[in-house]
Amino acid sequence: MKFLLYLLGLASFVSLSISTILQNGQIRQTNFLDTKVASIGLNSTGWKTYGPNATELSYKGRWDSKFISWWAAPGLKFAFEGQDVAITFGEHTSPGVLVAYRVGGLDWLFTNITAGGTHHLVSSATPGLNATLPSQLPLTFELRVTNWVRIDLQTARHPLSLFSNNLLAKTQAYGVQISAVHISSKAKLIKIPNFAKSIEFIGDSLTSGMYATYEAFSGFGYNIGAGFGNVEFSITAYPGICLHDANCWGNPRGQTYQWFQTSDTSSRAAQLYGTQPEPWAFNRHQSADLVLINIGTNDNNTANPVTREQYLASYVAFIPQVHAVYPDAQIVLMSLWGGFSATGNSFAQSGVYIDEVYQVYEHYKDAGYVHYFNSTGILQHNDIAPQWHPTDVGHIKVASHVMQYIRIKFGWEFAATGPEVQHETLYWNDETNY
Ligand SMILES: *[C@@H]1O[C@H](CO)[C@@H](O)[C@H](O)[C@H]1NC(C)=O
Ligand SMILES: *[C@@H]1O[C@H](CO)[C@@H](O)[C@H](O)[C@H]1NC(C)=O
Ligand SMILES: *[C@@H]1O[C@H](CO)[C@@H](O)[C@H](O)[C@H]1NC(C)=O
Ligand SMILES: *[C@@H]1O[C@H](CO)[C@@H](O)[C@H](O)[C@H]1NC(C)=O
Ligand SMILES: *[C@@H]1O[C@H](CO)[C@@H](O)[C@H](O)[C@H]1NC(C)=O
Ligand SMILES: *[C@@H]1O[C@H](CO)[C@@H](O)[C@H](O)[C@H]1NC(C)=O
Repeated sequence: MKFLLYLLGLASFVSLSISTILQNGQIRQTNFLDTKVASIGLNSTGWKTYGPNATELSYKGRWDSKFISWWAAPGLKFAFEGQDVAITFGEHTSPGVLVAYRVGGLDWLFTNITAGGTHHLVSSATPGLNATLPSQLPLTFELRVTNWVRIDLQTARHPLSLFSNNLLAKTQAYGVQISAVHISSKAKLIKIPNFAKSIEFIGDSLTSGMYATYEAFSGFGYNIGAGFGNVEFSITAYPGICLHDANCWGNPRGQTYQWFQTSDTSSRAAQLYGTQPEPWAFNRHQSADLVLINIGTNDNNTANPVTREQYLASYVAFIPQVHAVYPDAQIVLMSLWGGFSATGNSFAQSGVYIDEVYQVYEHYKDAGYVHYFNSTGILQHNDIAPQWHPTDVGHIKVASHVMQYIRIKFGWEFAATGPEVQHETLYWNDETNY
C-alpha cells in the first residue's frame, strides 16, 4: 500500500480512494454487509414510504435543506414498528460511503451505501433483533456516517515525505443524502424525543477522528458525545481546517466563518454551493449546553498562512460569537497537544499555542462560562499514529478524561451502561499458558 502511494505520489491530480482499512500496515478484517436491494417504489407492495422531511425522523449533526449530511459523524434516528427498515439514498450520496447503523443497543453494523440506491438495513434476519424484549419496543434505529476520508493527492511532493506535514492533501469527508425511508406497510414511524442536553464540538481532524479506524466514528468527538449515552451532539469538525479564516490545507475558509454554515469545507460542498453555503439556522435547532473547542493545530502549521497574533485575535473574537448563538452554554477550551518528539533518551510533547489558548481563557474567565481543559499528560508519544493523529486508543483516552472532567465539573452523569460506543476495540488476550 505504501509502495502504491509512493508511485501515485509522483503524479499530479491523482484521486485515490483508500479501499481497505490498514491496521499497523496490515489489512484489517472487516465485515461490511451487502444491504443494497432493487429500488423500492413509494409505498410499493409490503412497504410504507416516508419522505426525508417526515417529522418522525431526527437528524443529528448538520444536514442541509436537501437532507444531505455534512461535517463529522452526522446521524439519523427514529423508532419504528415492524421489523423492516430500508432507506433510499439520494444522488448526492458519496459513492461507497461507509455507514454504521444499529437497532436498539445491538452492536453497530456497517454497510457501504450506493448513491441513488436503496438499502434494506433491518429485517427479521438482523442479528439479535429476535431477542427484543416487549419493554424494548418500539425498536429504535440509528445511523451514523463514518465519513471515510478520501485523500486527493493533488500535488507532486518529495517522495520521502509522504504523509508528512508537507503533504498538500485535500481531504474529503463523505456524506449521504436521505431520499426516503421505507418500513413495513402496516407499521409506522415514531419520533424519538431529543435528549435534554446537547454538546457542540468545534474542531479539526483531531476531533473528527481522521485516520482512526472508523474515522469520525472512532474519534474523540464521537466517543465523548455517544459515550454519555444521554446527550445530543454535533461534531462540527473537519480535517485540515484552521480557526482563523484562511485557506489551510486546501480548506478555503476557517472555522470563524465555516462554523456558521451548514456544510463543511469539502469540494463536495463547493460543487453544490460554491461560495454560498446555507447558513446554519441555530435558532431552529436544539441549543448546545456545552461547547468543546479543540482548534488551532492547523493554524500553528507553517504550511498555513496564519500567524500566532491572528490566531489569538480570531479566537478572542470567536468566543462571544459562540456565546451569542448559545447564550446558556459552557464553553470549554481544550489545550492542544501538538506532537511528540524524541528528546534525548525520552520523548516530549511539543504543544501547540499553549500560551494563546490559555490567554483566551484568561480573557473570558471572569465571565464564568469559559473553561480551560488541560490535555497535557493524557496522551503519550505512542498514542499518536505515524500520520500525526491519535490512535484509536489515544482517542479513547482523550474522550475518557474529558467525560470525567464534564461529570465532575458540570455534574453530567454517564448513561451509556452497556451498548457499545467504540466499535471493534475488543483487543483481548485470553492466553493462559505462557
Ligand atoms: C466500503 O467502505 C470501506 C471504507 O471506505 C472501503 O474500504 C471499502 O472498499 C468499501 N467497500 C465497497 C464494496 O465499496
Ligand atoms: C405512503 O402512504 C402513506 C399513507 O399510508 C402516506 O401518508 C404517505 O405520504 C405515502 N408516501 C409517499 C412517499 O407517497
Ligand atoms: C414534505 O415534503 C412533501 C413534498 O415536498 C410535502 O408535500 C409535505 O407536506 C412535506 N411534509 C412535511 C411534514 O413537511
Ligand atoms: C434469532 O434468530 C437466529 C437466526 O437468525 C437464531 O439463530 C436464534 O436462535 C434466534 N434467537 C431467538 C432468541 O429466537
Ligand atoms: C506553535 O505553537 C508552539 C507552542 O505554543 C509555538 O512554540 C510555535 O511557535 C507555534 N508555531 C507557529 C508556526 O505558530
Ligand atoms: C497543564 O498540565 C501540565 C502537565 O501537568 C502542566 O505542566 C501545566 O502547567 C498545565 N497548564 C496549566 C495552564 O495549568
